[in-house]
Parts: sequence; structure tokens; C-alpha cells
Amino acid sequence: MDINKLKISHLVWRINFRSMIYGGKGTVELSSKDYFLKCPIGVWLDEVKVKYFVNSENGRKLIREYEALNQKVESAFNLFIKGRFEEAKVVADDYIQASNRFLEFLDSLSTSDLTNFDVTLRPLQTEKIYWGPAYETSLLLIDSQHRQLVNIVNKLCDLVNESPNVHIEANLFEDLESYMVIHFSTEESMMEEIGYVGTEIQKENHRLFIKSIYNFKQRFNEKKAPLTDLIGFLVNWLNRHILEEDKQFCKAYLEKSKIFN
Ligand SMILES: [Fe+2]
Ligand SMILES: [Fe+2]
Repeated sequence: MDINKLKISHLVWRINFRSMIYGGKGTVELSSKDYFLKCPIGVWLDEVKVKYFVNSENGRKLIREYEALNQKVESAFNLFIKGRFEEAKVVADDYIQASNRFLEFLDSLSTSDLTNFDVTLRPLQTEKIYWGPAYETSLLLIDSQHRQLVNIVNKLCDLVNESPNVHIEANLFEDLESYMVIHFSTEESMMEEIGYVGTEIQKENHRLFIKSIYNFKQRFNEKKAPLTDLIGFLVNWLNRHILEEDKQFCKAYLEKSKIFN
């Protein structure tokens, strides 16, 4: 059982879920109950459910936690289809926090727990990430740069769907490197321009991102890292850095520019 791949699929699914609730492109494809039923962790749990309940306290806890999580999805979805968009967004944001806690719990399970829960799954397909208003900052330059990263992640998802052990193309690292250099310097000079209070934290996180990417590059060259590790890292970055820290900074930037204009 590849827990990492399961988590990545969940994170990608959850990005698309939030994107849909925020009215993103891809809404036509996404706003159906079928899409919600596809949450990879839900599918996995359905398949292992009986074993879980019989064999393990942790398994029962995992099911309970997931069901609580899924109630939030249903509630956001129901509000969304009734046109109560603002309420749906609040529930969706709450869901993201609950999903983080759920993933932490999944991480805390021991390997033996997970081996007990193992079942043969049909091959997991990692969905593509749909760009949408959930990511938009109202700063077109930043949005277009963030979009480049989403494109890179989608290319990696295509590769991993072909085969988890597929060899990564050198030009994908070149794309990532030019993204880092151009995008981080754009953001950092804008932060300095307005004297943004979170500049040092952003710079430190950008530095850690660069360090991790070079580390991945070296491990790929030595054939020591599965592709899913890199996708997992990037999807987490999208969730935590772009959707939270960058959005905060862009909001501050827009507010400051209104004052000056
Ligand atoms: Fe960014
Ligand atoms: Fe940033």
C-alpha cells in the first residue's frame, strides 16, 4: 500500500474540491457528486472498512475521523449547489484544516497498522489540479507564475500515472529551477517594496523550498527518490504556502498599493 501516493491523490483532490467551491474553472467537470465520491482516501477506506472495524482500534478511529471529514465535504457541496457560496467557502476552509489533522493522524499510524489494513487496490490515478479562484490573488503576475507551478505538478502527475518509477525528464527540473529563481525574486522584491511584515518568514520558506528541490534533484540523479515524493512535496507547498502565506502577502500588497494610489 503506497500511503504517500494515497495522500498525494487526496491533496490534489482536495485542492480541486476547494477550487470548485470557490467557483473555479473546471467547475463543470467538478460539480457533480461523482467527483466527491472519488476522494481517494474515501475509496481506499471503503475497500478496507470491514478489516479495519474488526481488527483495530486505530482503524475504527481512522474511519470515524474520515466520516467527520466527509460530512464537511457534503455540507460544503450542499451549500454550493444551493447557491450559498460564501457559507460553502467557510465550510471548505474548515475542511482543509480538518483534512490536515486527518493526514497527521494517518502519518502517526505505525507501519504495522497500515500493513494490517493493506488490500489490493485498483491502480490509483492522480487527478490533475484545476487552476481557479481559490489560488487567485488579484495580482496577475503572481497568478501567472503560480500557474506555472501547477502546470509542472500536472506534468508530474501525468508521469506518475504512467508509472511511479518513471524517469523524470531533466527539463522538468529546469522548469522548476527557473520558476524558483524568477518567482521568488518577484515576490521578495514586492515584499520589500511595501515593507511586508512577513518578509523574513517568506524568504526563509523560499530558501527551504530551493534547498529541497536541489536535494530532490540529487536524489533523482542517484535514482534514490520516487516521483511521488516530489509531487507530495509540491502539492503540500501549493496547499500551505501558495494558498495561505502567498495569499496573505498579496492581500497586504494590494491594500498598500491602494493607499499609495
Ligand atoms: Fe508564491
Ligand atoms: Fe511565496
